[in-house]
Amino acid sequence: MGVTVFRSPRYPIARVAASGKTHFTHFTHRVRFQPAKEGSMSASAAASSASPSTPLSSASSSLDHPHDAPAAGGLARDAVRALRSSQIREVANAGFGVADVLPFWFGESDRATPPFIREAAAQALTRGDTFYTHNLGIAPLREALARYVSALHGPTSADNIAVTSAGVNALMLAAQLVVGAGDRVVAVTPLWPNLVEIPKILGASVETVSLGYDERGWTLDLDALLAALTPETKLLMINSPNNPTGWVMTRDEQRAVLAHCRRHGIWIVADEVYERLYYGEAGELAAPSFLDLASRDEGLICVNSFSKAWLMTGWRLGWMVAPRALMDDLGKLVEYNTSCAPSFVQQAGIVAVEQGEASTRALVADLRASRDHLAAALARLPGVDVKAPHGAMYLFFRLAGAERSLDLCKALVREAGLGLAPGSAFGPQGEGFVRWCYACDPARLDAGVERLARYLERGGERHVAR
Ligand SMILES: Cc1ncc(COP(=O)(O)O)c(C=O)c1O
Repeated sequence: MGVTVFRSPRYPIARVAASGKTHFTHFTHRVRFQPAKEGSMSASAAASSASPSTPLSSASSSLDHPHDAPAAGGLARDAVRALRSSQIREVANAGFGVADVLPFWFGESDRATPPFIREAAAQALTRGDTFYTHNLGIAPLREALARYVSALHGPTSADNIAVTSAGVNALMLAAQLVVGAGDRVVAVTPLWPNLVEIPKILGASVETVSLGYDERGWTLDLDALLAALTPETKLLMINSPNNPTGWVMTRDEQRAVLAHCRRHGIWIVADEVYERLYYGEAGELAAPSFLDLASRDEGLICVNSFSKAWLMTGWRLGWMVAPRALMDDLGKLVEYNTSCAPSFVQQAGIVAVEQGEASTRALVADLRASRDHLAAALARLPGVDVKAPHGAMYLFFRLAGAERSLDLCKALVREAGLGLAPGSAFGPQGEGFVRWCYACDPARLDAGVERLARYLERGGERHVAR
């Protein structure tokens, strides 16, 4: 990209590029995960990941720019080619040609963004709010977010807030800030694949610690996690409330992990995008957060998003809370990744944060009811072992026959018109389970349960244990 000129009167000066050099080396990883943004992979991307080919442009560009010759065979770097394509997408592809599929596979509500937020964006567009902004976000949004975070988790300055192009971009930026080739990263799984794949893009190796599953649902073996967090570890990537399991880390667990990471100088990237989708005691507005325990200027980067609590998945708006000392370098990374989040989207973000509390609370109440409704309905089916977790918007349940969950989910979409995400999409620890996103109309949940019931009755015989 060329030089960025900021038109905002608040930030009249363009950021000056610093020269940076990134080294990528081969890496090892113990656990292979499915990749990237669920549901976001285009058909062409899927095709190219299946059979990488020489880019169309490579012939002419290598003639025009002899020094830009493509790598051997015109292929992407090894680390990139080793990223695996989405199993959820694979299931969706199996449904091509099936006329009537009820999709519960993606992590997204079936409701559009509340009208008052859409209206704010429309007004910003009408005003002509279409220019680049400061790399770290417009000041009024950073200030609004600082007030919002302060109310939930204690005093937080706008200087500790950076606006990002949604949560996944915040995760990538956070990893780019602290992880390089050869670094050791630890992640707790089953897990939305991006947290495991992103450090690998940067050449890091990722060690996973699995949650356990028993009659209480998914739980953390704290000792196993602390043991994995060796002094050589650079970063812990942790997501609570968790996608896909709905597991919520307790405050005591967070305290122990924070103390350990402080002792050994290990960074924590806490993915708390589901913090508001929390079904705790009455009056609890958010899941336990590392922000409740840590100071704002220590080794914690807390990632958040407008996607879930304000139903703004398609807008691509998020933020991170990070130490002030990182902010200048973060600004450079934002510049080289996206330059900024879209300005009219940021304007809508202000309205969401300042006026959205009632709609978020209503959403959480609806989600709690949907969770209970679906869990009760599924529990009545044979071969289903389901528990209602305290967070996020998924039931991640054991289903007899899901020992090969990818095959089962493909069969479900083809033969029952039911779209679920295979547990193996979230790492080998998720095998035997399937994920159902319940952020939708209860009538649709009922129709989905009905389809699953009929499939199981028909035998689903290849898949259901006898
Ligand atoms: C655990 C987790 N983190 C981050 C994200 C990122 O969401 P977004 O990029 O839409 O903010 C998601 C999306 O599903 C998620 O499940």
